[in-house]
Amino acid sequence: MDLALSDTQQMIQDTARQFADAELLPIAAKIDKTGEFPHGPIKKLADLGFLGMCVPEAWGGAGLDVVSYAIAMEEISRGCASTGVILSVNNSLVCDPIQRYGTDEQKGRFLTALAPGKRLGCFALSEPGSGSDAAGMRTTALRDGDHYVVRGTKNWITNGQEADVCVLICHTNPAERHKGISALVVDRVETPYGIGKVEDKLGIKGSSTTSLVFEDVRVPVANRLGAEGEGFKVAMSTLDGGRIGIAAQALGIARIAFEEALAYSRERSAFGNPIGDFGAIQEMLADMATEIDAARLLIWHAAAAKDAHQKYAKLSAMAKLYASEMAARVCTKALQIHGGYGYVKDYGAERHLRDARITEIYEGTSEIQRLVIARATLQELAPA
Ligand code: CAA
Repeated sequence: MDLALSDTQQMIQDTARQFADAELLPIAAKIDKTGEFPHGPIKKLADLGFLGMCVPEAWGGAGLDVVSYAIAMEEISRGCASTGVILSVNNSLVCDPIQRYGTDEQKGRFLTALAPGKRLGCFALSEPGSGSDAAGMRTTALRDGDHYVVRGTKNWITNGQEADVCVLICHTNPAERHKGISALVVDRVETPYGIGKVEDKLGIKGSSTTSLVFEDVRVPVANRLGAEGEGFKVAMSTLDGGRIGIAAQALGIARIAFEEALAYSRERSAFGNPIGDFGAIQEMLADMATEIDAARLLIWHAAAAKDAHQKYAKLSAMAKLYASEMAARVCTKALQIHGGYGYVKDYGAERHLRDARITEIYEGTSEIQRLVIARATLQELAPA
């Protein structure tokens, strides 16, 4: 087993790290304070090929592997967690399903604009009344000739405000549960839909989270991804990949919290010594360093399995479960190491904890990850 990075993966890590140091770390606190969408950094990341990293070059992407994508997500999220999730949604939840399920015509229409970041995408699955129970959705797309007429409201949509392409998961046959669900690509320019409530969140404040309102929006049947009734599978398999990106986002947040706590433990003195000399602080730093490395190994394992076209749903759920809960633990310890300074906005510690918390919730809560892992494990143990 070789955990050394390839030349390309090393180059991606260097590029993403330099970008985070130069372009994101200096503005991350301001983005958190103002809640402004990071248009400038996203444009530059698009120019670097980071908006469609795993999309083949023929469709406008960078043609990289999933491990490279996870490495980039870690580095970019270390710089700014909001920028991380904007990137993750476009890569994992929009480009990926269009690449896997789209026809060449759909790829030509959507992927060639989304992958180079000329357009931005969002993914609409959750609703006001259904989150973890994704198949319990109520939004319908009923057939009328060559169109579906879409009616319903989607909730918690990252990039909802800025995106002009939406991968929409909805019922085309409400009489069926998951077997009546289909995936549509909705072009907001050609077939506008409404933007509802813009959420005021605890963290990742530079990324928009909105509801989307569909009031008899006529979407061409030609925009359906995969077969009618295949949409739940499209959504679930998309989230399998998305969870690798969110796990890497959590890892990046944990890393910056750890780096800052380490620096603070050297600068701050108490009882005549730097606080890093005390066993109580060293124990926290040791646990943080160990958990960060453990999370990265799980993430790379899941990403490598996806690259090798092996089963990876359980691995990505494990990576997300561990990395997100690890990030909350690491950020809590980082805040604690800062003492009173950790609780105020002069340092980043409180922001990192606020940013980390969402990774335990979106793209499947920790409870759902445990469900996915348990079901897969029981299936593996079942007699053939
Ligand atoms: N890949 C492909 N197919 C899958 C699958 C997967 N990973 N998981 C399930 N399926 C298929 C099953 O095989 C089954 O198909 P058949 O009937 O043909 O056998 C079908 O889907 C139904 O599966 P289940 O019976 O397991 O479905 P369920 O209703 O029990 O739900 C669940 C399973 C895992 C709980 C699922 O609902 C789930 O993942 N919920 C969480 C949803 C989620 O993660 N939401 C996040 C929103 S997106 C977001 O946060 C984005 C953002 O903006 C950042």
